Amino acid sequence: MHQITLIPGDGIGPSIVDAAVSVIEATGVKIQWDRQLAGMAAVEKHADPLPEETIESIRRNRICFKGPLTTPVGGGYRSVNVTLRQTFNLYANVRPAISFEGTSTPFQNVNLVTVRENTEGLYAGIEHFIKVDAEKLGAESIAIVTKKGSERIIEYAFQYARKTQRKKVTLVHKANILKCTSGLFLEVGREIAKGYPEIEFEDKIVDACSMQLVMKPDVFDVVVTTNLFGDILSDLAAGLIGGLGLTAGANIGTDAALFEAVHGSAPDIADLGIANPTAMILAGAMMLEHIGELDAARKIERAVRKVIRDGRIVTPDLNKNSSYGTQHMAEAIIRELIEE
Ligand code: NAI
Ligand code: MG
Repeated sequence: MHQITLIPGDGIGPSIVDAAVSVIEATGVKIQWDRQLAGMAAVEKHADPLPEETIESIRRNRICFKGPLTTPVGGGYRSVNVTLRQTFNLYANVRPAISFEGTSTPFQNVNLVTVRENTEGLYAGIEHFIKVDAEKLGAESIAIVTKKGSERIIEYAFQYARKTQRKKVTLVHKANILKCTSGLFLEVGREIAKGYPEIEFEDKIVDACSMQLVMKPDVFDVVVTTNLFGDILSDLAAGLIGGLGLTAGANIGTDAALFEAVHGSAPDIADLGIANPTAMILAGAMMLEHIGELDAARKIERAVRKVIRDGRIVTPDLNKNSSYGTQHMAEAIIRELIEE
């Protein structure tokens, strides 16, 4: 029996999390869900977006399945997602982007995974205005790249490539301009690559890499990069395969691992019952893989792909003429899964 912290989240969160839980349970894997609150739901109940109880639960279970959380823009509270990453040292953000048959995207041959450093870089939070007599003359932001931080994320990328039989790791940087930060990251990458002779290693400069991603995405396999570049490139890759409703992400750390959809709480469609549950369901598959339930993970992935390829019982974001919603699509996936 696996113990997993479950955070339903805000907006469309509870509906897609419910859908994903029912798909996960249909595989027969035994999970005891430890339901906890975070985000707006927690503010309403406990006046705290990240209650101690929730943190304790993740600390205990070390695995968390999380719906999207609403972060108020401007004031309010700090992003709970960022706090969770820092609290549990979730240093690797892993986002597969693999084309779905049956979607109308420019490419059908995308099969890449971005491995983004999730704790350092320009997101280290060291940013301030330069003021003289309260007049803002400028602002500066400091990127932190440590040897240790670079080693662990690049090692993770190579280990991931080895484990998933991927053939190539592309390290993305801007070492021609950012000679210290990006330069160190590249230097560490070249060193680590020597320990993986069976995996091809290359490096690309981020701007040229962006162009290649939208022109020839099939040349990419595993992409490893620093925080800001990874944030941008992984959204770009999500766009290549049909967008937000389809893309899942894992946040892997030394103290815990957290699985979620890449998208947010989608307040514009929150009460309509039409949110695409795919991203959340595939996050569930990534979680099952992480806890060693490989068969169940593969089964879910095959069932999801079949329902999308078939194109009938899918949410309106995938088929404009569809009158089916979140629940219908989840049920169709469960039927595929059981019939298999
Ligand atoms: P969003 O991802 O929630 O929505 C962007 C657009 O995509 C909307 O039009 C939405 O309807 C659509 N969309 C998103 N997921 C969908 C799905 N599963 N099926 C169909 N359509 C879908 O981004 P937005 O509007 O910028 O953010 C809303 C809230 O979510 C904000 O408070 C933001 O901070 C939060 N957020 C939370 C994240 C997390 O918890 N990991 C990640 C991103 C945003
Ligand atoms: Mg982002």
